[in-house]
Amino acid sequence: MSIPLSFLFHALAMVIGLVLLLNAASISTKKKTNQWLQKHRITAILGVLSVITGAVTMIVFKESQGYPHLKSPHAIGGLVTVIAVVTTPILGYLITRGKQNVKKYHTSLAKITLILVAITIILGFIRLWEIVSK
Ligand code: HEM
Ligand code: HEM
Repeated sequence: MSIPLSFLFHALAMVIGLVLLLNAASISTKKKTNQWLQKHRITAILGVLSVITGAVTMIVFKESQGYPHLKSPHAIGGLVTVIAVVTTPILGYLITRGKQNVKKYHTSLAKITLILVAITIILGFIRLWEIVSK
């Protein structure tokens, strides 16, 4: 089977998302200037938007083909990952609104989120391999 363009776009958006999120995390550990938060925030939001775009592309593609949703470990893991990717910046935003006690949760969830994104990408490539080698 030839690989649909939506699959390639989905994969590319997720890899770009991971690179941006890793960058955001890296910026947050180098707080030399007071511009770090602005850079951290924008890079993180772009990463989150990339992951959301990738997920929506796949959902719309499946819908257009009449394929069932959430039928593979990658798809279910992907949903959990998307939830983590959306929750982490909400916690980050709460810190900027003065909720200092949220900092430890944002930091911990951010690390878990990065690991989930990396694992989901690996599962995604395995899933793609499974589909094309059928
Ligand atoms: C953070 C990274 C990723 C997330 C959050 C993610 C999320 C998802 C979700 C939620 C679905 C199911 C959509 C539905 O059932 O309507 C899906 C399907 C799929 N993804 Fe990903 N994905 C990621 C990375 C990748 C990568 C790198 C590939 C590699 C090509 C990939 C390949 C696929 C394929 C082939 C499907 C359709 C088949 C299936 O549902 O099992 N994904 N993904
Ligand atoms: C998924 C997206 C995000 C990731 C992966 C992420 C990652 C991180 C990490 C790893 C830290 C800990 C830094 C350290 O070790 O000191 C951190 C801290 C922080 N992040 Fe995020 N972040 C994200 C989104 C955001 C957003 C959108 C905002 C703001 C609206 C934000 C605001 C903050 C703040 C205020 C801190 C506390 C830094 C400090 O004072 O020590 N983050 N973030």
